[in-house]
Amino acid sequence: MILLRKQHPLKRIDILIVPKITVLIHPELCPDEKTFQVSEGKNLCRELLKNNINIEHACEMSRACTTCHVIIKKGFDSIDVSEEDEEDLLDRAWGLHPQSRLSCQVKVGSDDLEIELPLYTINHARE
Ligand code: FES
Repeated sequence: MILLRKQHPLKRIDILIVPKITVLIHPELCPDEKTFQVSEGKNLCRELLKNNINIEHACEMSRACTTCHVIIKKGFDSIDVSEEDEEDLLDRAWGLHPQSRLSCQVKVGSDDLEIELPLYTINHARE
């Protein structure tokens, strides 16, 4: 969340800017592109679930699976860098991309994010 102060000739105006999350179309999880607002510092996976994007999270967000894999198409540089064990798990993810993350490990930063949900999870890939 960013609190911007804008100078007005007569008075100061505080404007609250809240990051937006845009989820691109996924045939099952998000048939229509969806956008919602989230406070900075919130967990991306939890916010997706709260907004009815039923992303898999097989290990209940304990960083032990890769089913919550997402690709951060825009805003990637505004989030914390991933830790080594997240990178190791991501190596098993279907459709790995340079901007892949485990959504359960992402804290929303100050910028808007655009999220792509991979077509499959590691569970689908094994079937
Ligand atoms: S829910 Fe398992 S690693 Fe994110």
